[in-house]
Amino acid sequence: MKNIILTGDRPTGRLHLGHYVGSLKERVRIQNEEDYAYLLVMIADTQALTDNYGNPMKVRDNVLEVLLDYLSVGLDPQKTIFFIQSQVSALPELTAYYMNLVSLPRVLRNPTVKNEIKERGFDSEKEGIPVGFATYPISQAADITAFKANIVPVGDDQLPMIEQAREIVKAFNNTYKEVLVMPEAVIPQNEKSRRLPGIDGNAKMSKSLGNCIYLTDDAKTLKEKINKMYTDPLHININDPGHIEGNIVFTYLDVFATNAHFKKYLPEYKDLEELKAHYQKGGLGDAKIKKFLYDILEETLEPIRIKRKEYEENMDKLLEILKDGCTKANELANSTLKEVKDAMGISYFADKNFLDEQKLKYSKKEN
Ligand code: TRP
Repeated sequence: MKNIILTGDRPTGRLHLGHYVGSLKERVRIQNEEDYAYLLVMIADTQALTDNYGNPMKVRDNVLEVLLDYLSVGLDPQKTIFFIQSQVSALPELTAYYMNLVSLPRVLRNPTVKNEIKERGFDSEKEGIPVGFATYPISQAADITAFKANIVPVGDDQLPMIEQAREIVKAFNNTYKEVLVMPEAVIPQNEKSRRLPGIDGNAKMSKSLGNCIYLTDDAKTLKEKINKMYTDPLHININDPGHIEGNIVFTYLDVFATNAHFKKYLPEYKDLEELKAHYQKGGLGDAKIKKFLYDILEETLEPIRIKRKEYEENMDKLLEILKDGCTKANELANSTLKEVKDAMGISYFADKNFLDEQKLKYSKKEN
């Protein structure tokens, strides 16, 4: 059996460099190098609404933005199926059935959800946690199983979601019939890519923290952001010994710099080890390492910007891509939904045995 790969993002803002190294780059690699039956990328608007219910415009506004980000990094609608979660009605249907396979305490134990509840400040006195928010991992299990995805490339914060989906698959298959496929999470191999810190040194690049480099940032903005980047507060004069640990410029260089970049932009150093050694010894200024990082990131972002521009000028095409993707996604998900309902014995009209069983019950009574 060939792989079915599914992943997705909430459309709540433009994607940033953290998304790029943490997932987008890997998706492009999979798309171009791996063997699969389907590669599906879902715009998770339904899930985004679970904590943006008061701000539906924000979600609506970001659907095409996120698609533009996908296309600009090289995901290709000829190879990847892009679809919108809310347009596939089998997903909430499956969710409704799966809800009976998960207990309330189990839902509330999910560490990612717990964390998000804290971050969002839901549990204030007047505003409780929306049920849809607390249970979104169940809906995410529907996203994954509807397509029989066996591989789900995600960030490590999503591992509890995949775990929940696995439990649901097991429970469903045990309770009814072996219909659902057990999914496997795949997280970035390079540990440093798993969570790119913000330019302010915060552990997470996040829109709400205002510490992002966006894929759409122009060269000037990129330069300004890198110049603001947190380095080493003890490295005041050029000749002071510098620290690498917690120095965000080096964290980024760890993720992005290759030996080819050194050859091209900083040939006086062989590799990152040499550059780090010099910085630690003293005598290497922040301006130089920042310029190097700028050159590397500009080389990364420029082609993304150019591609985005092409698609931005063809908005009709974007909607068509999503429409086609939704048609395909509906086909696949409806087929699973049918199997699920058959297994549960609730396909009353298509199930020849249903009426016969009931008739038999009555004919027995008469005798
Ligand atoms: N929860 C994911 C996120 O916040 C988005 C998502 C929704 C997803 N459904 C999914 C990811 C299914 C992978 C598979 O980024």
